[in-house]
Amino acid sequence: MEIFVVPDAAAIGAVAAGIIAAVVRSKPDAVLGVATGGSPLPVYAALAGHRLDLSRVRAFALDEYVGLPAGHPESYGEVVRREVTERLGLDPGHVRVPAGGAEDPERAAVEYDTSIRAAGGIDLQLLGIGHNGHIAFNEPGSALDSRTRVETLAARTREANARYFGSLSEVPERCITQGLGTIMEARHLLLVVHGQDKAAILAEALSGPVSAECPASVLQRHPHVTVVADESAASQLA
Ligand code: F6R
Repeated sequence: MEIFVVPDAAAIGAVAAGIIAAVVRSKPDAVLGVATGGSPLPVYAALAGHRLDLSRVRAFALDEYVGLPAGHPESYGEVVRREVTERLGLDPGHVRVPAGGAEDPERAAVEYDTSIRAAGGIDLQLLGIGHNGHIAFNEPGSALDSRTRVETLAARTREANARYFGSLSEVPERCITQGLGTIMEARHLLLVVHGQDKAAILAEALSGPVSAECPASVLQRHPHVTVVADESAASQLA
């Protein structure tokens, strides 16, 4: 595992975008795994500055809420369209987000895993970490070999994400998330973390026991992980 500690979120964006740009330069039709939430936004901003040709890149999102009306501005389908597809110039036909609005979300989840495999797997997966150690929406207790599936969001996750909605009651209770086993199949994992509020969980994930209680701890078992953290987030690392 390689860990870069940099001064702030903008520097995280610059370093992580440089890593992604190198992947795309060496493989113009690379398959990227994209994350939503606040952590990756500086990465997408910096990547836009590289003015790369991303038109052949394919992308898979980590997760999506279940139960939001189609086109809801905070659905991850819409967030990915705004922040990734349009901002970076990806072909919308090359970008997939789990079908949270599907009539049968369980089946949509299984099909999502199949489509990742059909694309040849993910070359580089961008990740953030939740305060409870979740990656994607694999909440504590998720099996380390879990596949893409329908899950119930933890209360803490809904509270954290209420900042994007009018109120807590508007945050969906369920989601489709890539599983930990699915994420672990990506060839390179790139975790970006900023802020003092993530310091304790980052230290637990990277140095604590590998356990379903801290889903991000599974990263310790992956052969190619890069962590880019600011000094606050890295302040409790050994
Ligand atoms: C988002 C995702 C989540 C977030 C995590 C951190 O697609 O899968 O795991 O990465 O909740 O969110 P932020 O970056 O908003 O603190």
